[in-house]
Amino acid sequence: MSTVAIPVLTVDGPSGAGKGTVSRLIASRLGWHLLDSGALYRAVGYAACMSGVDMSNVEVVTRIATMTRIVFHDPGAGGEIRVMVNGADVTDEIRTEACSATASAIAAMPSVREALLDKQHSFRSPPGLVADGRDMGTVIFPDAAYKVFLTASTKERGRRRYKQLKEKGVMVRLSDLTREIEARDARDASRKVAPLRPARDALQIDTTGRSVENVVEKIVALVCSG
Ligand code: C5P
Repeated sequence: MSTVAIPVLTVDGPSGAGKGTVSRLIASRLGWHLLDSGALYRAVGYAACMSGVDMSNVEVVTRIATMTRIVFHDPGAGGEIRVMVNGADVTDEIRTEACSATASAIAAMPSVREALLDKQHSFRSPPGLVADGRDMGTVIFPDAAYKVFLTASTKERGRRRYKQLKEKGVMVRLSDLTREIEARDARDASRKVAPLRPARDALQIDTTGRSVENVVEKIVALVCSG
């Protein structure tokens, strides 16, 4: 089967807009595969940090992006995907704020993005794919049949991220977190390659004050309407 015939739903947007939760639930509802592209950038950033290389050395970081074995274990039923880097489970380690900042920095390197291209395309397999990220609808799957771009107010995105970290036992100041999120989004949106922006044909949904279920229903309805 040509991969072009395999339907893709792209879910892009800034940090804390609800992409991860919504994508996981929709993939489970539809029985489709899930690509958490942010986890790929986080995994590369983590591997680079662990090997103690100079994070500003594009050539070395690109080599790490090419060589690192990144595997996702999907438990199904909407459960959390485990992220393995060179055989080690780093699911929790890659979610720290330090790793978020590293991921955003290395994601601005064009050669690192290029190194992760084939891996992302390989997720497109039957019966379909839900792809979560920043450039899913604009660069990685521009031919996707369904595209959404989720947004939410900065305040709400900070609050959501704060809650997530607190549940994991990570204590941070809400004001610091909100500032970091704003800085990361500004970098993601202003970089030269694959900047964070909605695809022209994406349905934009502001998730501020909406329940997860409400957003999921709206997107599932879009997919089911063909
Ligand atoms: O989605 P998540 O917060 O896990 O992504 C971490 C970082 O990875 C983002 O801040 C962004 O810089 C980068 N990223 C990207 N392109 C994607 C997904 C994530 O540049 N498709």
